[in-house]
Amino acid sequence: MRTVDHKIGMYNEVISQAGKPDRTDKHKRIYCFSHLQVPVNQLVEKMSSSHSPTSITRRLEGKVALITGGASGIGESTARLFVQHGAKVLIADVQDDLGKSLCQEFGSPKESNISYVHCDVTSDSDVQNAVDKAVSRYGKLDIMFNNAGIGGAAESGILDCTKENFKRVFDVNVYGAFLGAKHAARVMIPAKKGCILFTASLASVCCVDSSLHAYTTSKHAVVGLAKNLCVELGQYGIRVNSISPYALATPMTRIGLKMGKMEAEELISSTAVLKEAILEPEDIAQAALYLASEESKYVSGINLVVDGGYGLTNPSFGMAMKSLFA
Ligand SMILES: NC(=O)c1ccc[n+]([C@@H]2O[C@H](COP(=O)([O-])OP(=O)(O)OC[C@H]3O[C@@H](n4cnc5c(N)ncnc54)[C@H](O)[C@@H]3O)[C@@H](O)[C@H]2O)c1
Repeated sequence: MRTVDHKIGMYNEVISQAGKPDRTDKHKRIYCFSHLQVPVNQLVEKMSSSHSPTSITRRLEGKVALITGGASGIGESTARLFVQHGAKVLIADVQDDLGKSLCQEFGSPKESNISYVHCDVTSDSDVQNAVDKAVSRYGKLDIMFNNAGIGGAAESGILDCTKENFKRVFDVNVYGAFLGAKHAARVMIPAKKGCILFTASLASVCCVDSSLHAYTTSKHAVVGLAKNLCVELGQYGIRVNSISPYALATPMTRIGLKMGKMEAEELISSTAVLKEAILEPEDIAQAALYLASEESKYVSGINLVVDGGYGLTNPSFGMAMKSLFA
């Protein structure tokens, strides 16, 4: 839901893009906006009446993004937000019907700023083709969001872990991310600019589930890859970051938990540190927008944890005390 604060944020953003006006001097303020050829009052009115970002607030105007796992969940939300902010987006996924229907929402393929390519991220040639398609269709690649991932099979502990599951999780989560970064770097290095993002997980920084060995290891590996790439690719002006969300009720989680969206959200919220808010794919999309935009132009090598403080907790001792004195 958009709030008054949001509108004030948009207003402030216009102010910052238009130069720093003297807020006490009305004429000077209008002068500051004169190159926009819209009087301030009309501009603010226009912003207030619309929920979609104006051309001034479109933070990815002119950028081209490729999003793996873009047909569902976090990837889908990010694709929508990036398009709203002026980016041209190619979504790459294995769920062809979902990917295509998402694109159809935005109009005819020739005119819209979003398109779909079938791409299994475990396949070198598929990833190569996706990157090449972004360049041939939109002229370049500015943002590579390596987001596709799987949770893997539910296993009860190390003795139950199979090599097949471990390998499958690594194929998608780690090698898929590696291939995405490699092919993106191939076109970003000559351009001497670019932004590579990964979706890791809170499981990259702390133990979320003591039996999820393959997933946890894979997400640690993703963050390690992001850090190493940050150091190598900095010389070419390429920024590399990862985002680590706490649990969200996306299809991945819902299938794992065998729960509907509301039930899964309730379960997740009941364990959260931050109450009165539900972590949604749009929140991760906003983190990706920040890291992909010029607002983070000097941010590289971070693992942005979006968990409402959950990773700071270890309630075991408190729970033991409570049950002792109950
Ligand atoms: N849902 C959570 O609780 C959570 C928490 C932390 C991190 N993550 C991470 O977020 C990312 C996105 O997951 P989500 O929660 O949006 O789930 P999701 O299932 O909604 O989306 C994942 C997408 O990845 C695609 N995908 C899977 N394997 C693929 C492959 N081989 N090639 C191409 N695409 C493939 C799926 O088709 C799907 O569209 C994943 O990397 C996941 O590990 C999720």
